[in-house]
Amino acid sequence: MDETVLLVGGGGREHAVARALADSDAALYACAGNRNPGIARIADGFESLDTTNPSAVTEYARDIDATLAVIGPEAPLEAGVADALDDAGVYAFGPQQSEARIETDKAFQRRFMKQKGISGCPDFETFDDMERACEYIDEYDGDLAVKPAGLTGGKGVRVIGDQVTAEEAKEYLRASDYDQVVLEERLVGEEFTVQAFVANGDLRVTPAVQDHKRAYEGDEGPNTGGMGSYSDGSLELPFMTNEEYMEAVDILQEVVDALDGYKGVLYGQFMLTADGIKVVEFNARFGDPEAMNTLPVLETDFLDVLQAAHDGVALPQLTFSRQATVCKYAVPAGYPTDPEGGTKVTVDEESIGDALLFYASVDEREDGIYTTTSRSFAVVGVAESITEAEEIADDALSAVGDGMRVRHDIGKPDLVNERIDHMIELRGN
Ligand code: AMP
Ligand code: GLY
Repeated sequence: MDETVLLVGGGGREHAVARALADSDAALYACAGNRNPGIARIADGFESLDTTNPSAVTEYARDIDATLAVIGPEAPLEAGVADALDDAGVYAFGPQQSEARIETDKAFQRRFMKQKGISGCPDFETFDDMERACEYIDEYDGDLAVKPAGLTGGKGVRVIGDQVTAEEAKEYLRASDYDQVVLEERLVGEEFTVQAFVANGDLRVTPAVQDHKRAYEGDEGPNTGGMGSYSDGSLELPFMTNEEYMEAVDILQEVVDALDGYKGVLYGQFMLTADGIKVVEFNARFGDPEAMNTLPVLETDFLDVLQAAHDGVALPQLTFSRQATVCKYAVPAGYPTDPEGGTKVTVDEESIGDALLFYASVDEREDGIYTTTSRSFAVVGVAESITEAEEIADDALSAVGDGMRVRHDIGKPDLVNERIDHMIELRGN
């Protein structure tokens, strides 16, 4: 064993990365602000540090003689952690700060799409004067999505005609201290995610996933980082065709071709509309929860991908187990608006059954595991069909202790059929 991998980040997504690397022929070390018990159990070492401090991360990388690094969350990418690791001779699988702007600056992202002629860009304008933005809302013929340009953990967007009225959107802008916002046409359709491994100009895609952003069952309530998600045994999802999936892949390829030397994961959030596929956003990393759908069905050794990326050679073709997955998150009471951090989390690991358990933003201390202000842990069912995977995940939710909230409806036939019917209705057939 001559590779040592440093995993940066301590959420559910990073637990999924750790598990994907657990059987690889590499030593695995991790660092995060919280002590994630799932990652700590798998890793050879776990360091609590501020992952947005590039020198703290590189110092730890040097201590453990890391040869490769995987950066999970967006905040370290924005802080230049990939640049610092690359400079320190540790190959970071994650884009450098300037290329992570495709996620960290939504105004940049839209201008980039327009300048490079990337397909699927909605009509948009950017504003740094909130009063001008409010005037634009009044003038615009149609509904708009209001998006802060910077990172908001998936919680900053307000969609007029869906979550808020035009008046509420204006109040939101006036009360905010955002430096810049993007206002763009409201897209109506079904959302899906496609994530790809990217390096050396190569793009290797993974099956589509549908996340559920809204906090409560029936897609009600405020936006969250994602309450749960599902994928099918095929590359596409039940409400879309394989051709539509391939169109999304083509858009990701256009992005890779337009960026010079992007490396890491490229995540496309798409809206399948009556007028075809539109881009909701790009992220510069795996999705959370989507990584927990994708990595458990990846048969290719993740380490082989990392090594090929590092060596400057073609990335391996990926193979998947062709199984469906359903992921459901347990979150602290009050999440996302008023989350109750610092309460003890009880997970009865015995009642997880056949599901996979991923710890997320919890902190393991001497006397137990505590919530932070974000999502706590997720259970994932993997099976032949979405329905079977959902049953496995939902059964495992009996392990969730008091004071936590879940969305039971994710992946259930009723909700999946609603998505299918929604697309039939929009397509007008
Ligand atoms: P984002 O932070 O860009 O992922 O946006 C969060 C969520 O807001 C997305 O997952 C969508 O559900 C919604 N959203 C963002 N942009 C639009 C848009 N142009 N039209 C409709 N919904 C949107
Ligand atoms: N699940 C949405 C995200 O990771 O941004």
